[in-house]
Amino acid sequence: MRVIAIVNQKGGCGKTTTAINLAACLAAQSRKVLLIDLDPQAHATLGLSVKPEEAERGMYEVLSGEATLDEVIAQILPNLALAPSNIALSAIEQFLAGTPERERQLASRLAMLQEPFDYVLIDCPPSVGLLTFNALIACQEAIVPVETSFFSLQGVVKLSETIKLIGEKIGHEITVQILPTKFDRRAGYAKDILLKVRERFGEITLASTINLSDKLREAASLGLPITEYAPDSAGFKDYMALAREVIAAETARGRDRHASTGVGPQSRSGVLFAIRAPGAHDVKLAGDFNGWIPDRDVLSVKEEGGLWKKFVFLGPGSYQYKFVVDDEWREDPNNALTAQDSLGGQSSVVIVESLTVAFVKDHAVTAPAQSGGGSHVVPA
Ligand SMILES: Nc1ncnc2c1ncn2[C@@H]1O[C@H](COP(=O)(O)OP(=O)(O)O)[C@@H](O)[C@H]1O
Ligand SMILES: [Mg+2]
Repeated sequence: MRVIAIVNQKGGCGKTTTAINLAACLAAQSRKVLLIDLDPQAHATLGLSVKPEEAERGMYEVLSGEATLDEVIAQILPNLALAPSNIALSAIEQFLAGTPERERQLASRLAMLQEPFDYVLIDCPPSVGLLTFNALIACQEAIVPVETSFFSLQGVVKLSETIKLIGEKIGHEITVQILPTKFDRRAGYAKDILLKVRERFGEITLASTINLSDKLREAASLGLPITEYAPDSAGFKDYMALAREVIAAETARGRDRHASTGVGPQSRSGVLFAIRAPGAHDVKLAGDFNGWIPDRDVLSVKEEGGLWKKFVFLGPGSYQYKFVVDDEWREDPNNALTAQDSLGGQSSVVIVESLTVAFVKDHAVTAPAQSGGGSHVVPA
C-alpha cells in the first residue's frame, strides 16, 4: 500500500483538485484507492458529492478513536473510496492536546485498516499543523502541488525542510515530489516559472504538469472527478498522465537503487539505445531507469536516416525498456531478451555487466558497430 500525502501549506495551489483527480485516475487504471480528506473545510468530500454535514462519522471520529477508518469509508466509484471530513475536524487539535502520540494517530489507524488498498491519498489542509503532521508521519511519499503562477521558492524550500525533519524524526525518509499545477501555456511568465522550478528542483519535480483547465474547476463544483465529468478534456489527460507516472514508480522502485550505482554525472558508462524507424516523427525511450517517463534522463538523441539513437547513463544492473514510436510502445525489435513487466506486457531487457560489453549480439550490425540497429553498452 502506497500512502501519498498531497501537501502544501499554501491554499489554492491545487491540492484538493490533485487528490480527487489523481485518486480517480488511479482508480480508472485498476488501482484500489482510498482518499482521506484531512481538511476540516472538506473540499475533497464536497468534490466527490458527499455532503460533509451528512457524513455522520468522518476523520474527526477516526482520529479521536470513536470510529475506525473502515467504518467511515464511503464507496464513491468501483475502485475509489472516501474517508470524509467535516468542520468538526477543526477541533481535533484541542481534543488530542494531551495525547502523547497525537501526531501518530492517522498512522496507527491506517495500520489497522482491514480493507486492502493499493493507494491511500491524503488531502491535507493549507497549514502545517497537527493534521498535516499526522499525514506526513503516515505517508511514505508526498506530492507538493505548486501553482506555476505564484511559485514561491522560499515556500517550497521551507516545506522540504519540514518534511526532511519529520523524516528524520520518524526514522523513515519521505519521498517528496513537486507537481507544477495551474500552468497557463499562453502566459510567458508561467513558462519562466516552470523553467525555474525544473532548474532548481529538477530532481524532485514530476514530469507531469497540470494545465489550467476550466473543466477541472467545473468538475469540482459539480462534485465529480474529471474521469466522470469530462473524460476527453485536457485536465483528464493531465491527471491520467500523472497517474501513469505515479504507477510507473511501482515498477521503478529500483530506480533509486540504480541512482547510486550508475545514473548521474559521475557514472562512466551507459547504454546507447537504437531503433530503426524510418518515417517516424518522434521516437522516445522509456524504461525502469527513467520511471517509464518517455525520454526522461535521456542524455542525447541522434536521428540519421531513420535510425534513432539515445544515450543513457547506466551503471551495472539489469534494466527493462521500450521505445515509444509515434506514441506506440514497442519492444526493441533487435533485442531477443525480454521480460514480463509489472503492467502485464513484455519489455526488452538490457543488462549492463561491465563498462564496455556490447550487449545485443544478434542485431543487424552495420559498420561501425554502434550505428547498428540494436542497443549497446558503451563507455561514456
Ligand atoms: N488545473 C486547474 N485549472 C483550473 N482551476 C483549477 C486547477 N486546479 C485547481 N483549480 C481551482 O483552483 C481552486 C483551488 O484549488 P484546490 O484544488 O481547491 O486547491 P487547494 O486544495 O490547494 O486549496 C479551486 O477553485 C479549483 O477548482
Ligand atoms: Mg484543499
